[in-house]
Amino acid sequence: MTFAPRTIIEPFRMKMVEPLPFCTREERAARLVEARHNLFGLHAEDVTIDVMTDSGTSAMSQDQWAAMIRADESYAGSRSFYELQSAVRSITGLEHVIPTHQGRAAEHILFSTIAQRRGGGAPQATIVSNAHFDTTRANVEACGMCALDLSIAEAKAPTSEHAFKGNIDLVALETHLLAHAIDTPMVLLTITSNSVGGQPVSLANAHAARALCDRYGVPLFLDCARFAENAWLIRQREPKHGERAPIDIAREFFSLADGALMSAKKDAFGNIGGFLALRNPTLAEQCRQALVLTEGFPTYGGLAGRDLAALAVGLREVLDVRYLEYRIASIAYLFDRLDRAGVPLLRPAGGHAVYLDARAFLPHVPPDELPGQSVSIALYLEAGIRSIEIGTAMFGHTRADGTQEPAPLDLVRLAIPRRVYTQSHIDYVAEAVAYVYSLRHTLSGYRIVDEPRALRHFTCGFSPVVPSSAANVSTAA
Ligand code: F0G
Repeated sequence: MTFAPRTIIEPFRMKMVEPLPFCTREERAARLVEARHNLFGLHAEDVTIDVMTDSGTSAMSQDQWAAMIRADESYAGSRSFYELQSAVRSITGLEHVIPTHQGRAAEHILFSTIAQRRGGGAPQATIVSNAHFDTTRANVEACGMCALDLSIAEAKAPTSEHAFKGNIDLVALETHLLAHAIDTPMVLLTITSNSVGGQPVSLANAHAARALCDRYGVPLFLDCARFAENAWLIRQREPKHGERAPIDIAREFFSLADGALMSAKKDAFGNIGGFLALRNPTLAEQCRQALVLTEGFPTYGGLAGRDLAALAVGLREVLDVRYLEYRIASIAYLFDRLDRAGVPLLRPAGGHAVYLDARAFLPHVPPDELPGQSVSIALYLEAGIRSIEIGTAMFGHTRADGTQEPAPLDLVRLAIPRRVYTQSHIDYVAEAVAYVYSLRHTLSGYRIVDEPRALRHFTCGFSPVVPSSAANVSTAA
């Protein structure tokens, strides 16, 4: 008999450690007031477990650090650029690789170039997606175009167990293309779909979207920040792909695309970085010209040679079977613990995060009183855990009469940095969420007291709806 373990272990061990910060509840209450109840305003030193984002927060491997030391800092033609180009080409098959300092720079360069190619004028161009992430939407709109989300109906139902909630609604897509193909510069599939729970897009859906794009002459692009997690979820959930290597699944996915945008701060284990990868040489040349204006020369694009080198290694490491098995199992582990504690969750478990369903968590707090903000503030106050609201504060907007137009869902995302936290850290998070859930009847809502014009959630101020009520969790110093 051979040992057939059921425990999936972290496929790495620690060689360097960083102490965790600890504060008292009173200190955290004071920090919240100073930050105007916006968790982006906290100093990271006041956060014990930071699950606000999985972006740029990975632990790098010894091979990445070694590559950084060996990196080439030449202004033009750096060897590290060619290493990155070769890694990107080998996974995506896309010829033209344009590095950027992070994902949103790639978004801006691509969308501004496309908007310029079309020229202004009516009707407005529309980028159609399964779900744009916040910066993607903001960049589309900043370039004078419209961002249309066509996620499937199940994506809006938190309790639906649909295996591929990231899928684009093919009927709605065809209806749109039938009428507006000429004014649709691209269809953009976000894999995995961050705004709808880190949920995957199936290969079948991507093939069908490609067929529609071919029929109507519209290019298909990928926002591929979490392409490796998407590939693993396909392997787990899509019939016929269960035995395939993640790299093969990823290659098939990219073979459907005319281009890709990547925030390399996710599935390339980068602390910074991104890229655009394109098939069309003319579009690539135009994007490079825009790149030189704002990012830098095309062989570094806003990054140091050492960043390029780290990404080249990270892109290969992320497709490792043991890593992906551990990564997706660790998200499912947190999901299962919270599920067993009865906490309402966006189902099923996704690729990079567990999302609490804040509307079901706090049914007595209406969406325009920001239930997600309330839950995430309570998690920080009680346990020093920083999460992020993905709901009305992020995606809603203030109407002319001062009320809030709610987002489709009010979620709190617990995004797990890659290779950073251990199982006991995750156990602590699960215990804390269950504790805050036990306090739910005492939590009340928040309102926005000041906000900028775009991407308001990063910098706006909040205040409790019932600041001094005994029923509220007091955050006063
Ligand atoms: N696309 C997706 C799907 C993303 O999740 C992000 C960033 C971006 C593009 C933009 O990339 O940050 O490198 O400029 N998401 C982060 C998050 C910020 O927390 O989910 P970036």
